[in-house]
Amino acid sequence: MSRPGGRSILSPSILSADFARLGEQVHAVEQGGAQAIHLDVMDGHFVPNLTMGPAVVKAVDGITKLPLDVHLMILEPDRYLEAFRQAGADWISVHVEAVPHLHRTVTRIRELGARAGVVLNPATPLVALTDILEVADFVLLMSVDPGFGGQAFIPAVLNRIASLRDLLSKRGLKTLIEVDGGVGPENAGELVRAGADILVAGNAVFGKGEPQANTRDLLRRMREAEG
Ligand code: DX5
Ligand code: ZN
Repeated sequence: MSRPGGRSILSPSILSADFARLGEQVHAVEQGGAQAIHLDVMDGHFVPNLTMGPAVVKAVDGITKLPLDVHLMILEPDRYLEAFRQAGADWISVHVEAVPHLHRTVTRIRELGARAGVVLNPATPLVALTDILEVADFVLLMSVDPGFGGQAFIPAVLNRIASLRDLLSKRGLKTLIEVDGGVGPENAGELVRAGADILVAGNAVFGKGEPQANTRDLLRRMREAEG
């Protein structure tokens, strides 16, 4: 997995979109230059909220060519990997806190032909990744406790990004770093400078104003930070 043209990626989360106008909203961020669509799957067990399943992933797959970045905040994700892949998931990420046999799960995601991501909650030590980095395509660092859109960014994640970037370069790995939660115009540049490759933004894109303009604004800040 690599950054297209060496540039960082914006993956808007439809969690904060208007679901009655989902097609229109996905097209708006696509027009704004977004390079992926982030879909937050929650089960009411691993996180205290319920959201979407494969049917919504399939519907979004039918209206965009962008890669679908499916973030599974569910227990026992192995039971649903195939269903999400068949629905059109291109990147599938699972939480280290929810998966007892992470190597098996990540390998299965890749066997299904998707890119595999491992996700860490803000309080889970980075060392939990040490022995899975070689097999994962990307790492997703949560910058809020998962469950809801619109929460405040936890600043300690900036140091975690920098430490992970350092670890990856020491090992010569191309694993991408994704950051999710409380990302907006005020911190997008700082996150890219700290070493993030993929930024997820829900509320900042869909919560107010126009999704297309919000997407362009975030991308402009990301490009400036790339220098
Ligand atoms: C949080 C989700 C995020 C969320 C981000 O549980 O994983 O993807 O949608 O939303 P904002 O950008 O509003 O924090
Ligand atoms: Zn997410």
